[in-house]
Amino acid sequence: MEKRERGILLEAEKFKENKGVKKEKMGEEAKGEFEPKIIGFTCNWCTYAGADLAGTSRKKYPPNVRLIRLMCSGRLDPMFVLKVLLNGADAVFIGGCHPGECHYIKGNFYARRRIAAIRTILKQFGLDNRVRAEWCSASEGDKFARIMKEMAEDIKKLGPNPMRGKIL
Ligand code: FES
Repeated sequence: MEKRERGILLEAEKFKENKGVKKEKMGEEAKGEFEPKIIGFTCNWCTYAGADLAGTSRKKYPPNVRLIRLMCSGRLDPMFVLKVLLNGADAVFIGGCHPGECHYIKGNFYARRRIAAIRTILKQFGLDNRVRAEWCSASEGDKFARIMKEMAEDIKKLGPNPMRGKIL
């Protein structure tokens, strides 16, 4: 297993155990309100930078998302998404450069195909509506914040991931 993959799995494991998420227990979840856990796989050059811009411009968005930076959305391995969902995340966000703007030319086209394949697999478990992919550039901090707000609301309506803890 590659070092990077190990890191991602470790991150998912940490997320599962809620390590390092100190506030959550004292916050909304303690009051019985469902707070979705969203893992985001974002391209270093666009969406990750867009998230950074949202932060530095003080755009508000829910703290439900934990971002994992990939050098390109084309690096997304379908197993990352499956493992993250099976390890207890409620949803997965995938962000990459706009079509035609990938720094590695075709990475986001590969990602698009993989996401379609992932959805087909997840549909069998009824989880396909828990994966959202968006193209978001480094200058679209507003868009990133809006997507995160929408996604958190959508997943709250769906409720917790029904597969959590059932397989692994
Ligand atoms: S570099 Fe951003 S999607 Fe490829």
